[in-house]
Amino acid sequence: MGSSFVLSCVAKRLEGKVALITGGASGLGECTAKLFADLGARVVVADIQDHKGRVLCDSLGPDTASYVHCDVTKESDVASAVDATVARHGKLDVMFSNAGVAEPWQKSFPDCEVDDFQRLMSVNVTGVFLATKHAARVMTPARQGSIVITASTASTIAGLMPHAYTCSKHAVVGLMKSAAAELGKHGIRVNCVSPHGVATPLAMALLDLDKEAFEATIERSANLKGVRLGTEDVAEAVAYLAGDESRYVSGVNLLLDGGFAIAKGLA
Ligand SMILES: NC(=O)c1ccc[n+]([C@@H]2O[C@H](COP(=O)([O-])OP(=O)(O)OC[C@H]3O[C@@H](n4cnc5c(N)ncnc54)[C@H](O)[C@@H]3O)[C@@H](O)[C@H]2O)c1
Repeated sequence: MGSSFVLSCVAKRLEGKVALITGGASGLGECTAKLFADLGARVVVADIQDHKGRVLCDSLGPDTASYVHCDVTKESDVASAVDATVARHGKLDVMFSNAGVAEPWQKSFPDCEVDDFQRLMSVNVTGVFLATKHAARVMTPARQGSIVITASTASTIAGLMPHAYTCSKHAVVGLMKSAAAELGKHGIRVNCVSPHGVATPLAMALLDLDKEAFEATIERSANLKGVRLGTEDVAEAVAYLAGDESRYVSGVNLLLDGGFAIAKGLA
């Protein structure tokens, strides 16, 4: 086997896969949709930012990408997004449950409101529960599939992010482990990817910083020097967990934090 053949196999390592990406219109989800397309996958982008999602899918081409409106807090939307994916492509290989929101910093105890808490949990936790449930519905009869959930370094460290966000990211790691434990017998793997700070609209709005100032702030606090975490790094980790290279990996929370958590003695 020639080296160019091996390289082309590696380059298209998601060829033939069908992936549904929630929160795929922006930030980490958008970058992952682009990488998946580059790697040969067909993607369905599910989001509430319809214009942004459609522009992204148009840029990737109609044979590669399609958009579906999906509010992950609504079970009927998530079920329809999964069904639309199977109707269009005949299967679902990868669910990237990535949609998420963050609440503003100033809500300390006792000023934080239960309505804000529940609103965030409905996206960051219920949304992941629904994505897992409906992915499992179609993956179980196929006896294969990979579910990847976006958690965060806030899944292992408290005090970095607001209460509800930290709580939600701890919760999805528990959900991931519980789902991995149950779904393994059907050949379905479930893992989390947990990035440190990446300059996306969500993160920059939270700190009220532009991209350069955000990245400089993260760089100052980083353990690993000389490299900035980018959306592409997260997309590469998701592609690994989605693809056959990780075929025996399940129940893992993959931290992309440059050793931040261990260096701070917090993980
Ligand atoms: N950027 C970071 O520093 C960072 C770090 C760790 C984890 N995360 C997590 O990464 C994920 C993606 O966030 P991002 O940083 O790319 O932010 P982003 O704001 O760029 O993307 C989030 C996407 O989720 C979508 N979304 C929000 N609510 C939704 C809903 N109810 N239904 C469907 N889609 C919805 C938004 O429209 C948006 O397109 C989130 O789960 C976030 O918590 C981000």
